[in-house]
Amino acid sequence: SALQQEIETATASSIDEVEALRIKYISKKGKVNQLFADFKNVPNEQKKEVGKALNELKNCALEKINTLRDSFETKGSEDAGTDLTMPGEPLKLGSRHPLSLVKNEIISIFGRLGFTVAEGPEIEDDWHVFSALNFPPEHPARDMQDTFFIEKDPDVLLRTHTSSVQTRVMEHTQPPIRSIFPGRVFRNEAISARSHCIFHQIEGLYVDENVSFADLKQTLLYFSKELFGENTKIRLRPSYFPFTEPSAEMDVSCSICGGKGCNVCKYTGWLEILGCGMVDPNVLESCKIDSQKYTGFAFGMGIERITMLRYGIKDIRHFFENDIRFLKQFESAI
Ligand code: PHE
Repeated sequence: SALQQEIETATASSIDEVEALRIKYISKKGKVNQLFADFKNVPNEQKKEVGKALNELKNCALEKINTLRDSFETKGSEDAGTDLTMPGEPLKLGSRHPLSLVKNEIISIFGRLGFTVAEGPEIEDDWHVFSALNFPPEHPARDMQDTFFIEKDPDVLLRTHTSSVQTRVMEHTQPPIRSIFPGRVFRNEAISARSHCIFHQIEGLYVDENVSFADLKQTLLYFSKELFGENTKIRLRPSYFPFTEPSAEMDVSCSICGGKGCNVCKYTGWLEILGCGMVDPNVLESCKIDSQKYTGFAFGMGIERITMLRYGIKDIRHFFENDIRFLKQFESAI
């Protein structure tokens, strides 16, 4: 019949439209039920045949509505087997990388002393990494063995230390300058438990009138006590860097054994953590800062080494492998 055809070809584009079809055809006042109501007027000899057709029509309508309804209900969830009343999986909070934790702590310690943060590019030129920093032309650090060169003549290279950011900041800022520069550095070294060809440094620079070595020493002492604990002692040993004069290396008393001697400090009670010194006047002049008027100090430290001491990490390669079992151990340390 025409009605049967109408029902069979009916479509719906939403669950509400399915409901509208149900009302239209099979509700109490729907078209199909209307036919059942008229059934009593059918002559007796036709009742059997008409009754059968009516039942078929009703079943066909019910089936159609159910199929349409199912199609919308399964679309709602990705998988018909999903129980939407189940409580959800809690969202997991990731953890900060241990190098970021320590970097942020160092930034915050120097922040309390008024140091701002600046960054520079990882891909550098010879001027910013070496020449402006008073490296003589034949200095071994420029050697192919240490530096990753991208191009030669003019040289394009991966910075080997964050001291390059000193150059960049001093070139475009006149003193007072009081900043630290965190960043990645690259050296062509064999990868082992103790060294890697990629690592992180934090550089510090303070340039102003009357900045003295005593300021440097006191700043580093404050920093060391904040990072390693109130009882930490420091010692400065004379050293050499082309861009500082005088230069020193700083040791902190071993935070593991409290200076008594253990295998971490090789039974010396001391751990070397940074290089430092007074900015060489040649460097100030390269960057167009008046070396008669201004003096400054600089220091640079490796973040990996400090993080390894801090958390008792024995292999530097852990930092770069992204093994979830390693990273998860820092979950609550944000
Ligand atoms: N750039 C030096 C280094 O890698 C560290 C340093 C920075 C020394 C600043 C003195 C002053 O290894």
